[in-house]
Amino acid sequence: MLDKATLEPGDTVLDVGTGDGLIAFGALERLGPSGHVVFSDISKDLLDHCRAAAAAEGLLDRCRFVLASADSLADIADASVDVVTTRSVLIYVKEKAAALRAFCRVLRPGGRISLFEPVSVLMRDPDRLLGYDITPVKPLTAKLREFFHSVQPPGANPMTDFDERELIRHAERAGFTDIHLELRVTVKNGKRPVPWNHALRMSANPLVPPLGEVLDRVLSPQEIAEFTAHLKPLVESGAGRDRQAHAYLVAAKD
Ligand SMILES: C[S@@+](CC[C@H](N)C(=O)[O-])C[C@H]1O[C@@H](n2cnc3c(N)ncnc32)[C@H](O)[C@@H]1O
Repeated sequence: MLDKATLEPGDTVLDVGTGDGLIAFGALERLGPSGHVVFSDISKDLLDHCRAAAAAEGLLDRCRFVLASADSLADIADASVDVVTTRSVLIYVKEKAAALRAFCRVLRPGGRISLFEPVSVLMRDPDRLLGYDITPVKPLTAKLREFFHSVQPPGANPMTDFDERELIRHAERAGFTDIHLELRVTVKNGKRPVPWNHALRMSANPLVPPLGEVLDRVLSPQEIAEFTAHLKPLVESGAGRDRQAHAYLVAAKD
């Protein structure tokens, strides 16, 4: 992402949805002593964490921390940054078109965005759950899916309501010119083996409960035993299919 952003010494980079600063600190390192980074997130805790980390590294004079949602970037002035980066953030944002407009607004003419988003909508497979073959336990899996859909209704779920074409459309409508998108898709046999008790504590995304909790809520003890007997050996041996799709979007503002 940072390679694609083609940073220039002295640039100001705004990292939207900075989290614990993976991209923002990477940008600081690449920009050199005259470059600045604006860390932005909707989580005050994460911004405080980044501020403490920047202070520990003696980097505070090159950093700003702004609590703002990606779809407005309130408190970030028009035409005030050279580059906007954002990684795995738009999947949480319902108003993606507004976010792209906000990115365009805060960029100086000649500025650019470099985005990276998982495009999970491309990875749907009705015969698999998290990449594991569930055909022998399809009726039980249907109950789990019904629960997941009640928590994240398909049409209203920002994680799955877009694909790479939508990102291009939003970027173009927001006023970006010179738009490039790279889609990387991997489908391969074999997943990392995971102990079953770990798998029960994991969730598909931060907005849904962990698998163990979902099983307890949705299935009877007998159904849980049947589901576990099928899935546990697959999960523990890594006998699933790894499926990933990621979009890299780079665009410039005239
Ligand atoms: C998966 S993390 C990615 C963090 C970081 N960009 C990285 O790549 O390591 C998603 C981040 O997006 C932030 N986020 C979620 N919704 C947001 C929104 N509407 N506006 C800004 N940030 C948001 C979360 O607080 C979290 O820090």
